Amino acid sequence: MDHTVTVPEVRSAKGERPLVMITAYDAPTARWGESAGADILLVGDSLAMVVLGHDSTLSVTLDEMLHHARAVMRASRRCLVVGDLPFGSYQTSVEQAVESGVRFLREAGVHAVKLEGLWPERVEALVRSGIPVMGHLGLTPQSVHSFGGYRVQGREVEDARALVAAARELEAAGCFSIVLEGVPAEVGEAVTAEVRIPTIGIGAGVGCDGQVLVVHDLLGLSQPPRPRFVAPYARLGDAAVTAISRWADDVRGRRVPTGEQSYHFKPRAAAAWRRRLIREA
Ligand code: KIV
Repeated sequence: MDHTVTVPEVRSAKGERPLVMITAYDAPTARWGESAGADILLVGDSLAMVVLGHDSTLSVTLDEMLHHARAVMRASRRCLVVGDLPFGSYQTSVEQAVESGVRFLREAGVHAVKLEGLWPERVEALVRSGIPVMGHLGLTPQSVHSFGGYRVQGREVEDARALVAAARELEAAGCFSIVLEGVPAEVGEAVTAEVRIPTIGIGAGVGCDGQVLVVHDLLGLSQPPRPRFVAPYARLGDAAVTAISRWADDVRGRRVPTGEQSYHFKPRAAAAWRRRLIREA
């Protein structure tokens, strides 16, 4: 157990310092998050869209999530790592939720799981089994069809009240933190004030206890259009296309690999090789 960010530490960060969570899907993205000093790496089901090319998060399977979570764990040393339970891996029954959580901890080695929506009995059963749970409320992408698209949630007073009540229920069920996605900043602030566990916002305003972003959005690696709350801090996708185009030009112009980039005979072998070629000419 050399990971220094723990579930109790995340809990006690509330009111003390803002939490930083970033998604990671493989060893390089995990290393980037670790080196940048993030507190939490989320192996998010956004993997389906930004890595696997699906048009929603609904298609990714638990086995695919585990494959990527294992890669993240190989590269992570300090961060708390949370595995996102994908669509279809916890909705069927409490037992299914616990089985999926157990697989995440046992087969991938993550420290906690996240699930979307108000499922207090699943949360209780997972926590009872020793599996820490992060909740996720608001614009929960696995419910995209119920919402009729990726629409901001909680814009009416009644919906906002329901979100506050749901957050309280998740806290009572044992969640150690809650992601709030795509809700008015006022709702982010209200939920944060109403629960004693940290809220981690994405499109939920600056009043949450922490923030999370999809790493591909932050780095300019995902396809536009990007949501309003994403200001790319880099344009790595553009930089990648420029680099590959420059290399392709050099290949077509036979400028690469250069002599220095090539392997060569040892000196005596080079001389012998030249003598042989001369004799055979
Ligand atoms: O899957 C994901 O990346 C997420 C974050 C957006 C919170 O759930």
